[in-house]
Amino acid sequence: MCFAELGHDVFFVDVDPAKVDAIGSGISPIYEPGLDELLAKNRMRISATADTHQAIQDTEITFVCAGTPSNSDGSIDLTYMQSACRDIGHVLKQKDEKHIVVIKSTVLSGTTEGVVRRILEEESGKIAHIDFGLASNPEFLREGSALLDFFSPDRIVIGVADEISHQVLERLYSSFECPKVVTTIPVAEMIKYVSNAFLATKISFANEIGNICKQTGVDTAEVFWGVGLDHRINPAFFQSGIGFGGSCFPKDVRALISQAESVGVEPKLLKNVVGVNEKQPLKLVDLLQSHVPDLNKRRIGLLGLAFKPNTDDIRESRAIPIVERLLKEGANVIAYDPLAMNNFRKLYPQIEYASSAEDALDADAILITTEWEEFEELDYSGKIVIDGRGIEKARGGTVYEGVCW
Ligand code: UDX
Repeated sequence: MCFAELGHDVFFVDVDPAKVDAIGSGISPIYEPGLDELLAKNRMRISATADTHQAIQDTEITFVCAGTPSNSDGSIDLTYMQSACRDIGHVLKQKDEKHIVVIKSTVLSGTTEGVVRRILEEESGKIAHIDFGLASNPEFLREGSALLDFFSPDRIVIGVADEISHQVLERLYSSFECPKVVTTIPVAEMIKYVSNAFLATKISFANEIGNICKQTGVDTAEVFWGVGLDHRINPAFFQSGIGFGGSCFPKDVRALISQAESVGVEPKLLKNVVGVNEKQPLKLVDLLQSHVPDLNKRRIGLLGLAFKPNTDDIRESRAIPIVERLLKEGANVIAYDPLAMNNFRKLYPQIEYASSAEDALDADAILITTEWEEFEELDYSGKIVIDGRGIEKARGGTVYEGVCW
């Protein structure tokens, strides 16, 4: 949609007819602030189809945005990528004009020039970088602020191996003033993983230090404020709490671990980044039990189910291990989230869902798991509150404890 906003004609292709229909009727199939408005504004420049043939014949560039989920061993599952590339290769065979295939999906370094290139060449009978362009252009968008991140990027990474792809991508992004990193395809792919792995490391670091600060009575937030002012360090992504979730950090760190092991490197640091992140949410329940030791049949209010505010996405949400543990302890959970309750209900139909945040406060104790703005408006007086995300107003609880503060 952002490319359409820049004035380009965009075809959306998906194998899921529900998504094609939704986009075709001007409805975004995912929740993202500002996206519906962008769809409405650019209706004339977009079309949605399940027909890869038409979408490739009538365009210059194909961005492959297929998902790359985790296999059970942490490596990435390329099934969707492979299937999309087979379809694309098939059409390239019949297309006379030059076409460029750009991998936007997050794939491990070596994937584009490896399996992706092989499938495209096999299906098309053509040669990459000569008969068609092939490039990597990873995305760095955060859910909830994706449009802002697209239009004001810190950098744009362009991995190329042929001059035409290079020129077309430079032209596509010519209106952006940020630095453009033009590099090889494997480096571009690696930049994406290393960015996410580093940010995940920063968060696990902030949580480990936060755990120390909590035990020593030192204010964690002030520590990171002081630390972040060093320009070599920077203050972003130092918010201690119950750890990182979402569709990227957990999956990408696991994939990098799996790649490291496959090339004979022991990724000690990365493994501990995941280890800290798995333990951190359970600390919230440990703290709760220091106030309410026996959770059996106790009513526990859970504020927040999305993996972070401003999204309905619950993938790898830290609320999931917390609910698991509460159920194991026999607690009755009443949960509230402004956007994510429908998604969470599919995973946990057995828990109660409150119709408002106030209703979820009607419990023996409250856990805060996502920092939604509306949680700053609640009256926590008379409550036992255990906070995983740093909601200032919750300090008004009769009992208040933060996971790292
Ligand atoms: C991330 C990257 O930021 C983005 O560049 C990439 O393209 C996709 O993955 P996203 O998953 O949308 O984006 O969320 P992000 O805002 O990075 O937060 C991820 C998780 O880390 C959330 O669960 C959040 O609560 C947590 N987090 C973030 C912290 O616990 N502390 C912080 O200081 C920052």
